[in-house]
Amino acid sequence: MTDAILLGPPGAGKGTQARVLCNRYGYRQIATGDLLREHRAGGTDLGKSADAYMQRGDLVPDELIVRMVERELSGDRRVLFDGFPRTIAQAEALDALLSARGRGDAAALVLEIDRSLLEERLIGRWTNPRTGRVYHEKFAPPRVAGIDDDDGGPLVQREDDRPDTVRHRLAVYEAQTRPLVDYYASSGRLAKIDAGRPIDSVSKEIREALHLAEPSTA
Ligand code: AP5
Repeated sequence: MTDAILLGPPGAGKGTQARVLCNRYGYRQIATGDLLREHRAGGTDLGKSADAYMQRGDLVPDELIVRMVERELSGDRRVLFDGFPRTIAQAEALDALLSARGRGDAAALVLEIDRSLLEERLIGRWTNPRTGRVYHEKFAPPRVAGIDDDDGGPLVQREDDRPDTVRHRLAVYEAQTRPLVDYYASSGRLAKIDAGRPIDSVSKEIREALHLAEPSTA
């Protein structure tokens, strides 16, 4: 069992690819952004603490994030971390949490993409706030505009996908999360994925990097 980490800037496709991996290969997704949005919607103390950071596009403090992830880490299924870790301190904490549970080192994949593609991806994104499923009005449209294919619920646009907040999130990524690429490369567990291609091509490259079997077409 090898856990996996999806790294990459906002809009690179982490959530999209996490969904593919979970549906096809039985990973359990731990997506810190989705968990935080659930806490905000539920009005929990954590949600209230995280609110202002998320509205600005800043990172929520490490200790809150690590405690939240620790509560999620149970069971034997392999885990796919989506949007976590995002700082060196979070990466070191994750290594310690996995080791304390007798799990091996997680494999890290960084979704690399030209910045010019990200804005279009984020501005055209629509999300089911209940399930976290994402669509794109041009690249991955729902069957009926504004309606989720699975549960028929309404799709919404995220408030942090406004152009000024997107630019700030990208700057935060470069300053605080990009150093993780070297962190994982130096321990020989990083694969670089070209995330600028169509969704299926990116999924194929990830599958090969994680040595997963080709999905059956039957
Ligand atoms: P989070 O929710 O994790 O947002 P993010 O990392 O900024 O990533 P996104 O969800 O914006 O993008 P994605 O890479 O998942 O792309 P997606 O698949 O949707 O975090 C939000 C906030 O929470 C943070 O700003 C921070 O405040 C806080 N937070 C979360 N985790 C934290 C942590 N660990 N520490 C501290 N704070 C934390 O795709 C984007 C769009 O493109 C979609 O419309 C999709 O359909 C489309 N698309 C995807 N792939 C392709 C493709 N190959 N071709 C064409 N279109 C595509």
